[in-house]
Amino acid sequence: MTRLTLTFVALLLAGPAQCVGWAKARQRRAHAFLLGAKTWARCFAALPTLRLLAFVLPVMFINPAQAQLRGHGGPVRALAVSPDGTTVVSGSFDTSAIRWSLTRNAAEQVLRFHESAVNAVALAPDGRTVTGGEDGRVGVWQPGSPTPVLVLEGHTAPVVGLAISPDGKLIASASWDRTIRLWPLAGGTPRVLEGHQQNVNGVAFTPDGQSLVSAGYDLTLRIWPLDGGPETTLTLPTPLNSVAVARDGEIVAGGADGRVFFVGPKGDVRGELDSGQVPIISVALSPDSTLAAAAGIRGSVAIIERKARTLVRTLVGPGLPVWAAAFLPDNRTLMTGGTDRMIRRWNATTGDHIGSVPMADNSDPLAAFSGDRGAEVFRACIACHTLTPDEGNRAGPTLAGIFGRKIASLPGYNFSPALKQLDIVWTPETVSKLFEIGPMQYTPGTKMPEQTIGSAEDRAALVQFLQKTTGPR
Ligand code: HEC
Repeated sequence: MTRLTLTFVALLLAGPAQCVGWAKARQRRAHAFLLGAKTWARCFAALPTLRLLAFVLPVMFINPAQAQLRGHGGPVRALAVSPDGTTVVSGSFDTSAIRWSLTRNAAEQVLRFHESAVNAVALAPDGRTVTGGEDGRVGVWQPGSPTPVLVLEGHTAPVVGLAISPDGKLIASASWDRTIRLWPLAGGTPRVLEGHQQNVNGVAFTPDGQSLVSAGYDLTLRIWPLDGGPETTLTLPTPLNSVAVARDGEIVAGGADGRVFFVGPKGDVRGELDSGQVPIISVALSPDSTLAAAAGIRGSVAIIERKARTLVRTLVGPGLPVWAAAFLPDNRTLMTGGTDRMIRRWNATTGDHIGSVPMADNSDPLAAFSGDRGAEVFRACIACHTLTPDEGNRAGPTLAGIFGRKIASLPGYNFSPALKQLDIVWTPETVSKLFEIGPMQYTPGTKMPEQTIGSAEDRAALVQFLQKTTGPR
């Protein structure tokens, strides 16, 4: 099953034989069902066809009105929603995290620091963002600061799960080094929780803040009292990939065999349900804990009524397979992040796909340019860049007046320092070059997510569109 899934994912993502080979070799080493993110990133970086496909396919086939929240250059691997529902943070295989405003319908900040995939994200009650990477590091970010205000180092293998204690004082990180670390958010020495015999895939605090629950590939669910008492260990019939805790203290764990387990606060199994999603990669609970979502790497998302232990519907549609899921505070809207690099919204009570995020209204900012190929290509940029000075900066600087401007010279935007050393003036030729060979190569040190435009006609159309729309009005 494991190999099948891996092969399937690799084939689905890429097709090329190298990726399947890498994935298999990696899997034999890691004994983990998860396709190593580094492997993926390597495939992604090395294969121009794949990059081109990833970039061009969404542009070509997605209904324009839905194409708004595209910012990542690789699959969306992790999602977190702020308690008030105004902010979403996404982590991606493209090595970046993005903080999105759901009120402004735009990407506010690209968080670049990790050396490889961002596997986990969390939002603290005080607005700080926490990112966990395949590089084993954890970053804590203040809104607006270009680099982490705190870097937590100690894990010796990828960090794949993060949780923040209800009082906002502790970060828990789950790692493939088989440990969990509890870090004071204010900084200081972490506590290391040891016991898992295999990769730790998920962590969640209990709502009373008294315990931490962890889920491991070693089949165990562990409940760790934070006062230092001995942990409770429950062995389940399948490797566990994700865990969440309901408001009433019930633990919900997702297994590699597709089963969802319901466990009492003391470690007593209360029930189970076959979600039909094999393997489950992510479980999420609605804030009121009535609904659970179980997302499978191979297909769709199961919506479960927790108390009744019933599978009420399965979400099928665009953007699958799904790597990450999170509910909004309305207890109804489910956000998913998946292979198509977008964050999508679903009505979990009807099963309808609502579109990609964030779309407060359905107006299309590019409606005036319908039929313009360049405008279609620009849809990939609009989450992060505006065209007029009045609209200001988003996660990226405004492109108003871009032609003739030296790189990283726009006053008032916090550019990466590395860009200021480059001798590039933006012209139709240099902008085209940027997306021919990709920002990573053309502007090393950039925080713009990696993306390329394979077709010379599309690059020309984009540049023409920018010439039309970014000049003085
Ligand atoms: C997810 C956000 C994101 C997306 C999508 C994105 N960019 Fe960017 N872009 C940025 C960021 C962030 C920077 C600033 C880079 C830095 O300071 O490291 C940037 C910088 C640039 C610059 C250099 C600006 C300057 O003043 O030096 C250009 C040109 C640019 N982007 C064009 C585009 C185009 C065209 C697209 C679409 C094909 C695009 N970007 C897509 C985030 C993005």
